[in-house]
Amino acid sequence: MSSFALSSRVFRPSLKRSRVCTTSGGSTAARAEAKEVKVCTNKECKRGGSKKTLALFEALGLEGVEIVEIRCLGECGMGPNVQINGDDGPIINGVKTEDDVKKVVDRLMMES
Ligand code: FES
Repeated sequence: MSSFALSSRVFRPSLKRSRVCTTSGGSTAARAEAKEVKVCTNKECKRGGSKKTLALFEALGLEGVEIVEIRCLGECGMGPNVQINGDDGPIINGVKTEDDVKKVVDRLMMES
């Protein structure tokens, strides 16, 4: 059984700090079109390897995708957790491997 699971719960996270991998320009319009991946690096997810998850997303150097480090997505113990498509987007649990990260990116590109 895969540890890669999708949650339907919605949680309003607080941002710790953000990192912009790359954007397609600095205009307001470009920022509005930017896709986003939030990676929880709070205690439980960090214990599960979220720093590596964050590094895997950043290493992809995705054009027009913001990689945001976040404090908690409210699903502690199921991490590393990531959220795509803003505060109302799905939270994806157990994103640990390069393959997990690629699945999240595929979903991000399909849903945006
Ligand atoms: S510690 Fe990651 S969701 Fe709470």
